[in-house]
Amino acid sequence: MKVLVTGGTGYIGSHTSVVLLEQNYEVVIVDNLCNSKEMVVDRIQAITGKRPVFYRCDLRDEARLEEIFRAERPDAVIHFAGLKAVGESPKVPLKYYDNNLSSTLTLLRVMEAFGVRNLVFSSSATVYGDRATPPLREDAPLVFSATNPYGFTKIMIEQILTDYCKANPSFNAVLLRYFNPVGAHESGTMGEDPSGIPNNLAPYITQTLVGKREKLHIFGNDYPTPDGTCIRDYIHVMDLAKGHMAAIGLFERGGCGLKVYNLGTGHGFSVLEVVNAFSRAAGKPVPYVIDGRREGDLPESYADCEKAYREMGWKAEKTLDDMCRDALRWQEKNPNGYAE
Ligand code: NAD
Ligand code: UD1
Repeated sequence: MKVLVTGGTGYIGSHTSVVLLEQNYEVVIVDNLCNSKEMVVDRIQAITGKRPVFYRCDLRDEARLEEIFRAERPDAVIHFAGLKAVGESPKVPLKYYDNNLSSTLTLLRVMEAFGVRNLVFSSSATVYGDRATPPLREDAPLVFSATNPYGFTKIMIEQILTDYCKANPSFNAVLLRYFNPVGAHESGTMGEDPSGIPNNLAPYITQTLVGKREKLHIFGNDYPTPDGTCIRDYIHVMDLAKGHMAAIGLFERGGCGLKVYNLGTGHGFSVLEVVNAFSRAAGKPVPYVIDGRREGDLPESYADCEKAYREMGWKAEKTLDDMCRDALRWQEKNPNGYAE
């Protein structure tokens, strides 16, 4: 089976491409490199011994995307490409709506033109908003309650795919709602490479541990949780990658229509528990200070992952210690990420 991976040189797409190639899928990556580097293709090849086909292309360029589909004839698409900086999105909403929505609409038109009926989409736990109570289940009603344009693009794309599936019963769409992806490939040659100051917890900690940041700022310790810091469901990026292969398996078993799955571990860890796990991995304490709360943060978010196990046979296997060890190894071996 040939899988076209949009955003395949990015963080989650690159790890998923490795898992697909290792399972003998053919991989075609389409990425405009707005948030990734072409050298990721070399790293994928170094790990797997196979080189994915790579096209530098903006998904909104419909004519070029058609050429790629004509040349490659993929059987399925995994759609990772998108802008994802939550904090940036309210400052440049049009950029987010245009990139994320137009890319998806263009991709769907081209898939339709070439009769490609299998799509996996990168959604996010952010679609649950702040009204549902953890453990979050896929059937929680989705109030239109994202707090930022990035989150709204995920809700809107889920709706677009839901409507498209209704109109096209032979189309298969698997919406995967990721919780908090962290970690890196165990080789230490591929990982997360945020540009500028990291917004997310794990890369901020690993950059602190290698001396690129002075100390971690913990956003609030007065939440209604056991130690006062927020609780999240962190999932190893390699487990997440395998979740995508499980979704592709649904297509191979004859189609599934519209499906929605959480990809998390089902366990929540507090910020302080994550700090302690990184300290164990590093063999030294993570320097930190307690700051005020960050606007928009929820006290607690973790998944109910039963459905993904029941229907796809997938569950996360790696521990928080695995995530910290692998994230740190990547950061130590590549203190400046993929910078040449
Ligand atoms: P990433 O930025 O590392 O990867 C996204 C890739 O898409 C990048 O390589 C970028 O260059 C490419 N891209 C963006 N717009 C494009 C366009 N118009 N045309 C072609 N390529 C384009 O992000 P990631 O962390 O790997 O996330 C992948 C997907 O998962 C995103 O849709 C993101 O919103 C979603 N997601 C990520 C997280 C997370 O914490 N990382 C959580 C939930 C959901
Ligand atoms: C954030 C986004 C969410 C997105 C997710 C994955 C916000 C409000 N939410 O979620 O929409 O889907 O990233 O990309 O931005 N923390 C610190 N200090 C830091 C960084 C984080 O204390 O320097 C804390 C946060 O307050 C939070 C936890 O660590 O409690 C995890 O933060 P983060 O990695 O940003 O993920 P989320 O907040 O879950």
